[in-house]
Amino acid sequence: MLNLVILISGRGSNMENILKAVKKNKIPIKPVLVISNKSDAKGLAIAQKLGVKTEIVESNGLKGGNWEYDSKLVSALEKYKITPQNCLICLAGFMRIMSPEFIRHYKGRIVNIHPAILPAFPGLHSQRQALEYGVKYSGCTVHFVDEGVDTGPIILQSVVKIKDDDTEESISKRILKQEHKTYPKAVKLFSKGKIKIVGRKTIIS
Ligand code: GRF
Repeated sequence: MLNLVILISGRGSNMENILKAVKKNKIPIKPVLVISNKSDAKGLAIAQKLGVKTEIVESNGLKGGNWEYDSKLVSALEKYKITPQNCLICLAGFMRIMSPEFIRHYKGRIVNIHPAILPAFPGLHSQRQALEYGVKYSGCTVHFVDEGVDTGPIILQSVVKIKDDDTEESISKRILKQEHKTYPKAVKLFSKGKIKIVGRKTIIS
């Protein structure tokens, strides 16, 4: 069985959903570790309550995309015997850009959830970007992490209709509901070896 690592920075609701699905034996993966770059991340207590080990690797002042910080993540993973061959690393509201060195080290093993239908609205505040642009549909995307920002091969997407009276808050809430369904599905596909990366596409069997 693969080892699951989840990286968070805050609330951790996607993490919670994935861990609960794992605990109910719905996903064949071993939930080894949750890491936060912030000591006050609410998700830490949730992970502990679900019986999963947590580590804090503080990013205080260290810029994103920085190997000095990411090498500390690698050390934390190695402490738990997590290797590029035996893991899946889920970014779940982890508010940092990963360095190219980290991405190359765990190539094809890092996935992320983004609250928009990529390639539309990458980066921050995607729900606001979608509302301001005036699109009629948005949603969420689970994708592999490559060296760009939200550019890696797409695994799953779920669509949410935008209503005329939506606010950033209301649309974020409906997208999050879809995130909670879509991310565990993608983790399950990965853990069962059903996702193949072909160029910039994925093929799901
Ligand atoms: C989600 O909207 C996710 O798409 C984005 O950050 C948010 C994290 O929420 N990457 P949570 O911490 O999982 O509740």
